[in-house]
Amino acid sequence: MNKGNRLIKSIYTTLLIALIMLLMPAISWSLDLHTWSEDEKAVLRSLWIGSLPPLPEDPSNKYSADPKAADLGRKLFFDSRLSGNLKVSCATCHPSNMNFADSLPLAHGIGTTTRRTMPLIGTAYSTWLFWDGRKDSLWAQALGPIESPVEHGFTRTQCASVIMEHYKKEYSEIFGPLPDFSERDLPLQAKPSADEPVALKAWITLPREKREAITGVYANMGKAIAAFVGTIVPTPSRFDLYAEAALRGNPSAMLAAMTNDEVKGLRLFIGKAKCTNCHSGPLFTNGGFHNVGVPQPEKLPPDSGRSDAIAKVLADEFNCLGIYSDAKRSDCAELRFMDTATYKYFGAFKTPTLRNVAERAPYMHAGQIPSLRKVLEFYRDLKPGQRAADLEHGDLTDPELEQLDAFLRTLSSPLKFAE
Ligand code: HEC
Ligand code: HEC
Repeated sequence: MNKGNRLIKSIYTTLLIALIMLLMPAISWSLDLHTWSEDEKAVLRSLWIGSLPPLPEDPSNKYSADPKAADLGRKLFFDSRLSGNLKVSCATCHPSNMNFADSLPLAHGIGTTTRRTMPLIGTAYSTWLFWDGRKDSLWAQALGPIESPVEHGFTRTQCASVIMEHYKKEYSEIFGPLPDFSERDLPLQAKPSADEPVALKAWITLPREKREAITGVYANMGKAIAAFVGTIVPTPSRFDLYAEAALRGNPSAMLAAMTNDEVKGLRLFIGKAKCTNCHSGPLFTNGGFHNVGVPQPEKLPPDSGRSDAIAKVLADEFNCLGIYSDAKRSDCAELRFMDTATYKYFGAFKTPTLRNVAERAPYMHAGQIPSLRKVLEFYRDLKPGQRAADLEHGDLTDPELEQLDAFLRTLSSPLKFAE
C-alpha cells in the first residue's frame, strides 16, 4: 500500500468516526423519543383502537344489532323523501364520504341551525347524543332532526305515510305489521311541536291510540336508522399502528408509522398538554361535558349547552324510561342517576372524538374555529384564570403547537360501516 492510499484510508476512517460521533446523540435521542415507560404504555394502550370493545347493544332498542334493521336504516338515512322539500336526508349534513359530517360552521337543511354538524364516528359508544347530550340513545336522537323545521322539516305522520308507501314489506319483516291507519285519515301536517301551533293542534285532536300508533312507527324508524348509524366506526390510523408497534416492542414498525415530530406531538398530547384529561380512550373522548371557553359567535343567541339539556332529556318521550323504549327500568341507570346539577354544566359541550379530526374543519360546537392550528392557539392562549380546572396544561411554544398539530393528523383513517 503506498503512502497516498494510506492517507486516503486514514482520512476515510477519521471521517467515518466523526460521522458516527455526530450521529450518536441523534440516534440515542431518537431512541429516547421512542422509548415509553410502563405508565406511558398504559396510556398508549388506552388510546389504541384495539382497546375499543365490540359494538355495544342498546337495551332501549332491541333492533340495535339487527342487520335487517341496519339495512332499512341505511336506506332511510339516505332518503330525501323524508323531508318537507324532498331534498334533505340525514346524509345532506352527514355525507358518507366526509366522515358523515359537512364542512359548514352551522349545519344547513331546510334552514340553518345554530350548531355545527357532528361527525358520526363510533356514536354507538356514546351515552349522550348531540353537543349538549339532550338525547340518551341513537334512535331517540334520529327522531330529532326529522321534525325540526330547520332540518328535515317533516312530521311523524308524514314519516308513517312514507313507510307505508315505500317500505311496508321491509318494515313489517322487522317490526311486525304496520298499524292499520288508512292514509286518508292521516293528517300529514301533525306533530307535537310547541313552536308550530297549527301542526300541534292537528296532532292533539287525533285520538290517543292513533297518536301512539303513529309515534310507534316513528320510533321504530328511529330504531332502524340507529341500527345503521351505530355501525359507523373508525379503522386503524397511523397512530394505532404506532401504538401497536410500541406495545409489541417493534422499533422498525414504530419508525415506519409516525415521524419524530408526530411522536413529539403524541408525547405532548398525553403529557404536558394534558389533552387526555378529556380526549381519552380509543375514540379520544371521555364522553363528558366541559366548558372549555369557546366564545359563542356574535350572530347567535347565547348557548348554555349541557345545563339546558338535562331537563330536556328527562322530559323526552323517547328516553330510556319512556313507553317506546325496549329497556327495563334497571337498564336506564345512566338516565336515572344522571348528574342534574345544572350549574356545573353551564356552557359545557360534549367532548368531540378526535378521530379523523384533521378532515373536518371548521371546529367546535358552532364552527367558531377555522383550523386545527387555530384550535391549538385557542387552547394555548387561554389564560390560567379563564381555563377550566382540567385544562391545566403548561405554556406551549410554537414548535410544540406544530408537533401537536402533526400528531392530530395521524388520527385519520377510513370509516367502516354496514353497506
Ligand atoms: C340540517 C343538517 C342535519 C341533518 C339533516 C341531520 N343532522 Fe345530525 N346533526 C346535525 C347537527 C347540527 C348536530 C348537532 C346538533 C346539536 O348538538 O344540537 C347533529 C348531531 C347528530 C348526532 C349526534 C352525534 C354525537 O356524537 O352526539 C347524530 C347521531 C346525528 N346527528 C345523526 C343524524 C341522523 C340519523 C339524521 C337523519 C335522521 C340527521 N343526523 C340529520 C346536523 C344534521
Ligand atoms: C377540559 C376538557 C378538555 C381538554 C383538557 C381538552 N379538550 Fe379539546 N375539546 C373539549 C371540548 C368540550 C370540546 C368542544 C368544545 C365546544 O365545542 O365548545 C373540544 C374540542 C376540541 C377540538 C375540536 C374538535 C371538533 O370536532 O370540533 C380539538 C381539535 C381539540 N379539542 C383538541 C384538544 C387538544 C389538542 C387538547 C390538549 C391541548 C385538548 N383538546 C384538551 C374538551 C377538552
